Amino acid sequence: MADIETFKQENRVFAPPADFVKNATISGMPAYEALCAEAERDYEGFWARLARENLQWQKPFTKVLNETDAPFYKWFEDGKINVSYNCLDVNLSNGNADKTAVVFESDDAKVTRVTYRELHRRVCHFANGLKSLGVKKGDRVVIYMPMSIEGVAAMQACARIGATHSVVFGGFSAKSLQERVIDAGAVAVITADVQVRGGKQLPLKSIVDDALAMGGCDTIRNVIVYKRAGADINWVEGRDLWLHDVLANQADECEPEWVDAEHPLFILYTSGSTGKPKGVQHASGGYLLWAVLTMKWTFDIKPNDVYWCTADIGWITGHTYIAYGPLAVGATQIVFEGVPTYPNAGRFWDMVQRHKATIFYTAPTAIRSLIKAAEADEKIHPKQYDLSSLRLLGSVGEPINPEAWMWYYKNIGHEKCPIVDTFWQTETGGHMISPLPGATPQVPGSCTLPLPGITAAIVDETGHDLPNGNGGILVVKRPWPAMIRTIWNDPERFKKAYFPEEFGGKIYLAGDGAIRNKDTGYFTITGRIDDVLNVSGHRMGTMEIESALVANPIVAEAAVVGKPDETTGESICAFVVLKRARPTGDEAKQIAKELRDWVAKEIGPIAKPKEIRFGDNLPKTRSGKIMRRLLRVLAKGEDITQDISTLENPAILDQLKESQ
Ligand code: WTA
Repeated sequence: MADIETFKQENRVFAPPADFVKNATISGMPAYEALCAEAERDYEGFWARLARENLQWQKPFTKVLNETDAPFYKWFEDGKINVSYNCLDVNLSNGNADKTAVVFESDDAKVTRVTYRELHRRVCHFANGLKSLGVKKGDRVVIYMPMSIEGVAAMQACARIGATHSVVFGGFSAKSLQERVIDAGAVAVITADVQVRGGKQLPLKSIVDDALAMGGCDTIRNVIVYKRAGADINWVEGRDLWLHDVLANQADECEPEWVDAEHPLFILYTSGSTGKPKGVQHASGGYLLWAVLTMKWTFDIKPNDVYWCTADIGWITGHTYIAYGPLAVGATQIVFEGVPTYPNAGRFWDMVQRHKATIFYTAPTAIRSLIKAAEADEKIHPKQYDLSSLRLLGSVGEPINPEAWMWYYKNIGHEKCPIVDTFWQTETGGHMISPLPGATPQVPGSCTLPLPGITAAIVDETGHDLPNGNGGILVVKRPWPAMIRTIWNDPERFKKAYFPEEFGGKIYLAGDGAIRNKDTGYFTITGRIDDVLNVSGHRMGTMEIESALVANPIVAEAAVVGKPDETTGESICAFVVLKRARPTGDEAKQIAKELRDWVAKEIGPIAKPKEIRFGDNLPKTRSGKIMRRLLRVLAKGEDITQDISTLENPAILDQLKESQ
């Protein structure tokens, strides 16, 4: 991975191609600047105009922004809306009814297409089915599903009846699922027998069984099971129901439940620097507005596009840019069940070719691993595929290093597709800082400029603005419609985590560091400034992994740090002290394996430490504080040049160099 020095020196500039600019929704920098100026002139008026023009309201709003209870901001609060209505019904009367909404491709490359009319019908069946089970407005429903039309329909069905969904990524363990079910107080879980990825069947239903058997999930009445592969599963009579039975004989129409704009559309759990994952709560109206606007602005979506976002619906990207945004603008999108490396690492390019994708949105980790694969095997190199349908590329989830950016630009975009490097977070609901493809000149490794209406800035520790050219703390100064509303069940933590008093209590703290270019004002994100790791674009708290490790009866103490990794951006390195003597040789390898499996069970396979190092102790100051900065140096395999005079036990450092 390139470090910040490389980003600072980056001076290649790629202007949007002329024909892209000509047809773009936001065409040229003056158009971008005009929108920014409109927002600056009349902030509320700007958002109100866009919310009237881009959404269908059952009852129009008269209030725009309510700041009286800041930082618990409210947007369009007296308006009534339904998100599913805006994604589906709207497309039945505007000429899109017979347009393909979703092109679903299964792991083994079977393709299913559904039109907007058909998707509407399926979502209505689903919504009526949920209602028949007594699920109602305000209830929470956990969705633990594979990538599928049914997964998207489940989310839309909840939105249709005003139930708040909480999607849990299918890679999380039973324990993580149980914690989320309990915290959300969910009444039902929607799952599948298995998920199929890379030619393998991975369990889902049995993990739900385990999670619910762990106790505390008394609010759950039903488990609804989508039959994906007909795998052998256990069945709890009275609780478990097949999805096809729930859908059978349901009416084709389901009147949407009109909700207040502030009604919680979903809760999505994400890692923070302390404690358990937090349930990020999003509203309905403001969230959907931003999903629509960013589809139009950042993705320049047009009626004939074939749009493909490779994210999973278990993450925020799969919420905003699969389940909601593309449908709300009537787009045709690809939904993919499998993995980029099956049956080989040419799968993405093969799919772009077969489906004639025009917009492709993926994560830097995927790009980096596919670069490696393409370099190792000519047969799956992107040059073997016809990628000429592509007109726009996107990147999300982690910093993209300039080398990966250039490879993407040349080998996938053939130097004619702009790249939108979109910076945003679970909490922001949608893109915050990103080039506009028909306006902003792009610089590899920079997410460039804030979208219109987004008041991103860089400040110092006291909350004061820093001049361009200085690295600092990334903040957003004014509330925006798609922002997080609160942390479910924990408003105090919401205030502390995002609107701390030290910064005046009113500006949003992203948790990332950033720097602005001295001349252009372009932003480059330098990474998290809290104890959150970003491994392959997946957010993980070091504390979470440490707690999982020390929950193992043989572990006395553990400290986890991130280590730069060429492919995954960061990798997890755990320093562990056992309650017994420090293991060496084969024993150390064996225990390291056991601990990895343990973490997979506690959190999920994505949280498995890549490296584990055993010591008799951890490097600590005389007051007993773990010196994490030394651990980061050790993890990188670098020599310690820092002052270690405050270190209680310097002899320990040598032990911690050896990894398992
Ligand atoms: C990081 C994912 C650099 C950042 C949408 C942020 C990025 C965290 C970018 C949020 C980008 C996301 N450039 N870093 N374009 N996009 N990040 O909540 O550290 O899963 O705080 O949302 O990912 O991760 P989350």
